[in-house]
Formats: sequence, C-alpha cells, structure tokens
Amino acid sequence: MKRFLSLLTLLLFMTNWAYSQNNNTGDPWRGTPQEAFLNSEIVATYQCTSCHTVTERGGTVGPILNQIGNRRDDVWLKRWLADPQQVRPGTKMPNFDFNPQQLETVVGYLRSMKKDLQTEEILAKNIDLAQKGELLFKEYDCSACHRMGSEGRFVGPDLTWIGSRKTEAWEQVWLKDPPGFKPDTFMPNFHIPEKGIAALTAYLHTQQGQANSESQQWEFRTNFFLGNTDHKRGELVFKRFACWSCHGEAGGGGVKNPNMAPDELMPALKKTAQNYKKNELLARLKNKTLPKSLDPRQPKPPFFCPDYGNHLDESEFNDLYAYLESFAPKKSKWRFK
Ligand code: HEC
Ligand code: HEC
Ligand code: HEC
Repeated sequence: MKRFLSLLTLLLFMTNWAYSQNNNTGDPWRGTPQEAFLNSEIVATYQCTSCHTVTERGGTVGPILNQIGNRRDDVWLKRWLADPQQVRPGTKMPNFDFNPQQLETVVGYLRSMKKDLQTEEILAKNIDLAQKGELLFKEYDCSACHRMGSEGRFVGPDLTWIGSRKTEAWEQVWLKDPPGFKPDTFMPNFHIPEKGIAALTAYLHTQQGQANSESQQWEFRTNFFLGNTDHKRGELVFKRFACWSCHGEAGGGGVKNPNMAPDELMPALKKTAQNYKKNELLARLKNKTLPKSLDPRQPKPPFFCPDYGNHLDESEFNDLYAYLESFAPKKSKWRFK
C-alpha cells in the first residue's frame, strides 16, 4: 500500500510537472490581436513581416509592431499607409496603394495591437529611479525602434552609448515631445507623465556603453554575413555610436546645433576623409573638441563631438575610417565621349 501511494504521488508529481512545462513553453501570443494580424490576409498578401516583427516573428528592417496601437493614432496611421514617402522621404516602406476599405482593415488591426501600460504601477514601485526607467523602457517597447546592446531595431539611433553623448536635461526635453522639438522626426510623442520621463532619462543616462560587448558580439556575427570588409564593419561602429544622431543619416548632415558657428548645423561627414589625413582624422576623434559659438553672448551650443579615445579600440578606429572614406565619390575614369 505504501509503495502504491508513493508511486501515485510520483505519477501526480510528474503529470503536474509535464503540465507546467507545457504551460511555460506555450505560445504567449496565442489568441492575441498580434497573432490575428500575423495570420491575416493582409500579411499573407503584402508580406508586412518581411520587414516587421509581429509576435516574435518577422524581419528586422522596420519597427517591431506589437505595440503600434500604443504610439500611433488612426490619423497618423492612415497618413503613413497612404503614402510613406510623404511622411519619411527615402523610407524603405513601400506604398501598397490600399483602397479605402483595405486601409480601414489594416488600421483596425494596427490599432488593436497594444498593451495595457502599467506606468503608474511601475512608478509606485520601491526601487530606484533608473530601475523604474529600465522597466518603462520595456513597457513602452522603445526597442521597437532603438537598439541597445544586442536587442532592438535600428530605426532610431542606437542607445548603447546615449549617456555619453547627450545631457539628461536635453533627453527630458526630447522625451516630452519629440515632434515639438523636431517637427519632421519619426519618433512619436508617447505622452509619458513627467515622473516617467524623469525615470527614463535617469536610466538612459546610465547607458555609457555597459552593453557595448553584447553589441560587438552581435556585430561580429553580422559582419560574417556582410562579407566582413573594413567599411561594413565601420558602418556598424558608426551605428553603434549613433554618429548619425548628430551628423545626419549616413553622415549627410543637416542636424541643428543652436548657436554653433558658422551656420548652426553639425558638419556632414561626406567629405571628411578627403579633407583630413588619416592620422589627423583619427587624432580628431580621439580628443574632445568644443564647437565654436556663433554669438558669444548666447548660451553655448548644446552638442559636441564626444571623445572616443577611451571607447573604441584601434581596429574599430580603422574600420570607422574605412567607412568615412567610402563616402568619397568614386573617381571618374577618363573615357571617350
Ligand atoms: C520593405 C520593408 C517594409 C515592408 C514590406 C513593410 N514595411 Fe512598414 N515600415 C518599414 C520601415 C523601414 C518603417 C520605419 C520607417 C523608416 O525607417 O523609414 C516602417 C514603418 C511602419 C509603421 C510605423 C511604425 C511605427 O513604429 O511607428 C507601420 C504602422 C507600418 N510600417 C506598417 C506596415 C504594414 C501594415 C505593412 C504591410 C502591409 C508594412 N508596414 C510593410 C518597412 C516596411
Ligand atoms: C517609431 C520609432 C521610435 C520609437 C518607438 C522610439 N523612438 Fe526614440 N527615436 C526615434 C528616431 C527616428 C530618433 C532620431 C531622432 C531624429 O533625429 O529624428 C529617436 C531619438 C531618440 C533619442 C535621442 C537619441 C540620440 O542619440 O540623440 C532618445 C533618447 C530616444 N529616441 C528615446 C526613446 C525612448 C525612451 C523611447 C520609448 C519611450 C523611444 N525613443 C521610442 C524613433 C523611435
Ligand atoms: C552629440 C553630437 C555628436 C556625435 C554623437 C558625434 N559627433 Fe562628430 N561632431 C559633432 C560636432 C558638434 C562637431 C563640430 C564641432 C567640432 O569640431 O567639434 C563634430 C565634428 C566631427 C568631425 C570633424 C568634421 C570636420 O569636418 O572637421 C568628425 C570627423 C566627426 N565629428 C566624426 C564623428 C564620428 C565618427 C562620430 C561617431 C563615432 C561622431 N562624430 C559623433 C557632434 C557629434
């Protein structure tokens, strides 16, 4: 009898264990609006997931769409889907020429993909401000567009080193209303309450490259597929340090720095490699310089080129140089008319 009982307990224990295993590995997206969209005719026809991740599946070119309903309203979504180029010139998102009925259907799906945000609950926790910020960063799904370490997408600047290039004061102004600060920006206004912004910026400001080695490992694997040339490696270094957040996409310039001489614009980097000798350019990047003021009576320009001497190793400097060099227009060969 005793043996029978212990066998029975063992059996019960095992079925219970198997059940909990099954529960743990069960698909957390089952029955959600995200799964419905993934299996919809829209996705089957237009292959949205070749570029976008929905649930855990899909490509990495565009933002992760699982919480799209939290950050974009119907008006914005319709404008975007009707003509992406109009909203973000140069975007890789195609214009699908939806008819009005299809447009309603797509917007319906997108609107439904959201999360019940626990902002107040997170802020009420008894943990320090930066830890609350880290939870909010996940709660708002900021990595839908931003990379940090080896997580997230490259639609916005990589935030692995954000704390070393922007001040906390500026980050607060930015997070409060990105389009208010820069009307054509692709970053939405999340309407985060004041205390949430304080927590997020406290967290962002702690990001001074702690996740750098995760990024490097990810880049190492990616480079293997990209052919592992110097300038491809350099492009990823350029992205990890978000040089483009100040020097424009692919170094194209046009980003404002109030009161910076001569024209309040941070320099484009298209011709930099031609204007400097290699060792001069690398020396330039290894030492912090401060931009000159246009008007000395006005506040100093808020942005300056960070000092990268301690952040990059020699091989990364070389790769970065190769990338900047690749901007130079190809020398045209002499040929017959
Ligand atoms: C060829 C790649 C590609 C395909 C296919 C694609 N998109 Fe996009 N989409 C993008 C990119 C890239 C962005 C971000 C804008 C940018 O970086 O230029 C974007 C942005 C978006 C956004 C705004 C995201 C945000 O976070 O604000 C929505 C919504 C969206 N796409 C929906 C769709 C839907 C729905 C489909 C299918 C019908 C689709 N996309 C197909 C590339 C694509
Ligand atoms: C739909 C994509 C998208 C989402 C989602 C998004 N951002 Fe951004 N973010 C951007 C883009 C694009 C920029 C670059 C600003 C520009 O020049 O237009 C940016 C810029 C920033 C910057 C300044 C970066 C720098 O290097 O100067 C910070 C900080 C930032 N975002 C934080 C956040 C936080 C925190 C969240 C979540 C609450 C978030 N972002 C969600 C797209 C996004
Ligand atoms: C926070 C903004 C910011 C970031 C991030 C930034 N820079 Fe700069 N950079 C500037 C400013 C402002 C100047 C011009 C003032 C000066 O000379 O210091 C500048 C100047 C330069 C110059 C000299 C350009 C010339 O024509 O003389 C180079 C080269 C350069 N940056 C490369 C880089 C690279 C590479 C990165 C990323 C590893 C980077 N910068 C990241 C703000 C930034």
